[in-house]
Amino acid sequence: MADQNVLAIGPGHPPTASGSIQRSLARAFSIEELRLLAQRRLPKAIFEFYEGGAETEITLRANRTAFERHALVPRYLVDVSQVDTTTVLLGTTAAMPLAIAPTGAIGFGWPLGDVALARAARDAGVPFALPTSATSSIERVARDAEGARLWFQAYMLRKRDFTMGLIRRALCAGYEALIITVDMPTGGKRERDLRNDFGLPFRFTRRNLPGFAARPEWAWAQLRYGLPQLENLVGFTPEAVDVKSIASSVGKSYDPSFDWDGLARIRDLWPRKLLVKGILHPQDALQVAKLGCDGLIVSNHGGRQLDTAVPTLDALPSVVSAVGGRLDVLVDGGVRRGTDIVKALALGATAVMIGRPALYGVSAGGEAGAARMLYILHDELVRCMRLSGRACIARIDESLLRTWY
Ligand SMILES: Cc1cc2nc3c(=O)[nH]c(=O)nc-3n(C[C@H](O)[C@H](O)[C@H](O)COP(=O)(O)O)c2cc1C
Repeated sequence: MADQNVLAIGPGHPPTASGSIQRSLARAFSIEELRLLAQRRLPKAIFEFYEGGAETEITLRANRTAFERHALVPRYLVDVSQVDTTTVLLGTTAAMPLAIAPTGAIGFGWPLGDVALARAARDAGVPFALPTSATSSIERVARDAEGARLWFQAYMLRKRDFTMGLIRRALCAGYEALIITVDMPTGGKRERDLRNDFGLPFRFTRRNLPGFAARPEWAWAQLRYGLPQLENLVGFTPEAVDVKSIASSVGKSYDPSFDWDGLARIRDLWPRKLLVKGILHPQDALQVAKLGCDGLIVSNHGGRQLDTAVPTLDALPSVVSAVGGRLDVLVDGGVRRGTDIVKALALGATAVMIGRPALYGVSAGGEAGAARMLYILHDELVRCMRLSGRACIARIDESLLRTWY
């Protein structure tokens, strides 16, 4: 494996939110309101890159409606004067049953957004997952968010040695866990991006330029910090030095031949916690458990990969029963409220992950926006636990749920 530890980390910190942004954040009371703030600040093509799903976006919508189909049946006359949201996640206590999912290209939402988000996660006591396609390097995030619980997400690229180099860098930089995302043997068909001429490779075109020009505040921040780079992929191909050429190389380079044997080899090589992301079938879940992984993430990539794939909340119960408590089961896709977290836990999840809510928060106001997003979800979680008669996480069980329709 080539030694990749010599990458320049570079100076600078994420910009802090201006007074007017801070005031807007303080007036945002839900994830939906943060979403609207992000939409107001971002060029259309970027907002839609974050927002969109694959093809008809059936799975994207179904992830949400799966939560709405479940009703809560609360218990009362329970002492809920003290509510404890802490839980054990991968053997370590987290402030609440939630982790930040890996999302690429965060730097397009806010300069050095990966660092801003990792710091907010650290201060809120929850893990942060840095993706392969991050806009800050593995080392920079470890340095600038020192003390955070950091997980590194790897895609399997055709150049396996390159992926293994990234994994080794995460090991050297002290990352607690490795996530292998398996639902990407090829890229999903995201038609909003095609329509908006947004791509990684990113380029200004006649069609998308007006959307960028309409957001001068965003453009000014990006000008000051320079267009984001996919920092961990510098050197991916010898000729690739800018985001455009690197990303096009990566897009063509997911390894569709990656299989169980490949995963077993990674299990042998990676000595710390290992999670597999993108599991929907109970038999795949069982296989992940048999390989000795520490966790799996029930995920359909937020509806961005296989459209009409099963909504994650519907896939969760059979996965939980297949693995029978042998490893942590996380779930993501559509979590927007404290009540959603409680529903996922009631169906057997150890914790949830959040993708777009984190992008909304950080795009709305950098670290302050990410902190606001985490505050909202924690506050709603506490309220939901209190209103449903559950004073601690262990008390959240299936008896709390009924199917609405
Ligand atoms: C803009 C965007 C980029 C993403 N990039 C990655 C990635 O690089 N690696 C990965 O494993 N998942 C990626 N995901 C999927 C998320 O990790 C997560 O599974 C999904 O966002 C959860 O759904 P939610 O957005 O409804 O919370 C991305 C999602 C979004 C929205």
